[in-house]
Amino acid sequence: MTLVTAIINFKGGVAKTTTTMNLGAGLRKLKERVLIIDTDPQGNVAVNLQGSEESVLNPQTLTISALYQRPDIDPNKAIIKGTYFDYIPNNLYAYQRTNGMSDYRLLKLIIDKVKHNYDQIIIDTPPYLGLDAINAIYAADTLMLVTDFSKASLTGVQILVSVLDKWHDKQISSVFKNKPKTILFTMHQKNTVLHRELLESVEDSKAVGMGIMLKERIPRLLKVVEDGYSGVPTIISNPRNKVATEYKSLAETWYYARTTGKITGSRYIVNVPKS
Ligand SMILES: Nc1ncnc2c1ncn2[C@@H]1O[C@H](COP(=O)(O)OP(=O)(O)OP(=O)(O)O)[C@@H](O)[C@H]1O
Ligand SMILES: [Mg+2]
Repeated sequence: MTLVTAIINFKGGVAKTTTTMNLGAGLRKLKERVLIIDTDPQGNVAVNLQGSEESVLNPQTLTISALYQRPDIDPNKAIIKGTYFDYIPNNLYAYQRTNGMSDYRLLKLIIDKVKHNYDQIIIDTPPYLGLDAINAIYAADTLMLVTDFSKASLTGVQILVSVLDKWHDKQISSVFKNKPKTILFTMHQKNTVLHRELLESVEDSKAVGMGIMLKERIPRLLKVVEDGYSGVPTIISNPRNKVATEYKSLAETWYYARTTGKITGSRYIVNVPKS
């Protein structure tokens, strides 16, 4: 069975795409067959990969947004075989025509046609709750809420959880409530008192339905920004630095999640579908 994970937060710039790419590359290092699906029209997965910018700039690229509109096309044809993982890109060209679409099952139908070739599928999402995020939530087996330590980002997670819990379409709210959820902290600065206090308070967040906190905390490191330009995920470019070490641990957690059906967090364990 394939483990499908959606990376979400309503707030932008909190390292959703960085996490998607490092987790994907880390899982590939563990010999997992990995597919990343970029549902964000910014197309940042391709933007970050060296030499792939043309899929973002090219109106003809077969993107996930194009596949939403053309269910007759085999989605396997949209898969790009990248150096660090396979991926389906996105860009703004086809996305603009998804305006007004509301079917939340489109991505699940696409994944059902490609998943036999993959152990892990990771869905990167845009920083807002629209067609793409709702499709990702519906299609995923588990949701990873990625946040930095800013008030805006943590509030973004809380709002997202509370809005989705009461979503106007009851099917979506019940799907969301029942999905196993985890929280990953990024841009961590170990010696900051505020960060330590926040981690302690969120560790118990299982009680408020936000999901279990993961034991991995991704440190803030300028090198990650540089890697965005070089197109090589940090886990590959600098496998020994602190960011790479935490993403390596996250990849191991996800490998065990698929093979044992359990995600082990900082204090709690959550069940996910097992291979
Ligand atoms: N651990 C880190 N340390 C320092 N900078 C980081 C780290 N992780 C990500 N960044 C940088 O932060 C910026 C935002 O990261 P990223 O694009 O992954 O966020 P995002 O949540 O996907 O944003 P968006 O919501 O726009 O899609 C990028 O410039 C990235 O290089
Ligand atoms: Mg992003």
